[in-house]
Amino acid sequence: MNSNQWFDSTLWDRLSAPTAEGSTLPNAAYVDPDFFAAERDCVFKRHWVFAEFAHLLAEPGSVRPVEVAGQSLLLTKDTDGVIRAFHNVCIHRGAVLIEEPRSDCRNIVCPNHSWSYSLKGKLLARPHFFGGDQHDTKPAECTSNNLVEIACHTWHDWVFVNISGDAGPFSSYIAPVLEKIADYNLDSLRLGGTLSFDIEANWKLAVENFIEPYHVFSCHPWLHSFVTMAERDAPTFEDHILLCGYTFQRTDPARGEGLPYFPGLPEHKKNRGDWFVLFPNFAFEIFPDQLATLVTTPISAQSSRETISLYFVGEGADGEQFRAARDTVIKNWHDLNLEDIGILERMQRGRLSDGFNGGVLSPYWDPVQQHFARLIYKAMASTSQ
Ligand code: FES
Ligand SMILES: [Fe+2]
Repeated sequence: MNSNQWFDSTLWDRLSAPTAEGSTLPNAAYVDPDFFAAERDCVFKRHWVFAEFAHLLAEPGSVRPVEVAGQSLLLTKDTDGVIRAFHNVCIHRGAVLIEEPRSDCRNIVCPNHSWSYSLKGKLLARPHFFGGDQHDTKPAECTSNNLVEIACHTWHDWVFVNISGDAGPFSSYIAPVLEKIADYNLDSLRLGGTLSFDIEANWKLAVENFIEPYHVFSCHPWLHSFVTMAERDAPTFEDHILLCGYTFQRTDPARGEGLPYFPGLPEHKKNRGDWFVLFPNFAFEIFPDQLATLVTTPISAQSSRETISLYFVGEGADGEQFRAARDTVIKNWHDLNLEDIGILERMQRGRLSDGFNGGVLSPYWDPVQQHFARLIYKAMASTSQ
């Protein structure tokens, strides 16, 4: 494996070594602004990444600017109901096209010289293009005349993009997860609540913390009473997917009690919780009556935003009769996440210490941390010094 200015020549060996003798990433990966910038290019532009919630583009005619990997992108929904993604920039003189979301847009009109585009990105007209009052109303059909489209796929409420266009088909990215959650009818889900948190920690710490249950007995008293350490298995991983889960012996109002279950759920799933990370930063947990997504958006090397969205089955999401049960679940997600954030920010501060640089790991719980580090390493190793 290559090294670069952040990865010394022994790092790959430590990431690949038996976990008790290995380590994870060096501090620079969590604090260095140059690493953060390179990571945008090597990780966030080159993989399928979450861009936005589809419910925010509910109506045909919706347009919505989003930022992914430091790029301003434009999501549109035309009358065909398909959500598309484009670079949010006019092909003429490079003005950013859309700065505020709209739900009633027929065409995109650049505010600079009023070139207009369809919601499919096609250039429609250029006023005064050939001189005063000499308009170009039928621009030539060629791709260089259109907005620059980006690979985009909507999976339920989650819009993913691949800016570089070379991450392969979304179907290949999602297939291993679809297989594992085939018993759950995700079409029955509706959004029941959203929580948002600004955290002073690198996005990777949030992902690493999400997938490991080792901290539960120490950081989450209620969660440990719900499922003890002895009942928990270590996380596993398959290529770009990180996985963990447990079987619970009793229900609890904080984890959903009295809420409707997924229709047709097999018996052996009625006391299961499973959670997943799709590399790099889209995570979700699924229970018999709910699905929670946790997206950690990188803001800077040392800060991130977490968005937790809670989906429930059918009327579990909005029925008045389920309000108390739903609110209890949402409050529990809020409280659990605050418990995590304190730890994430502590680990972030620890990465400014000369006394730490990759860690000493538990051979039982932490192989997944090395695997995640290897995924980052492989993505970043192409940036040679
Ligand atoms: S910059 Fe957009 S029309 Fe000129
Ligand atoms: Fe936690």
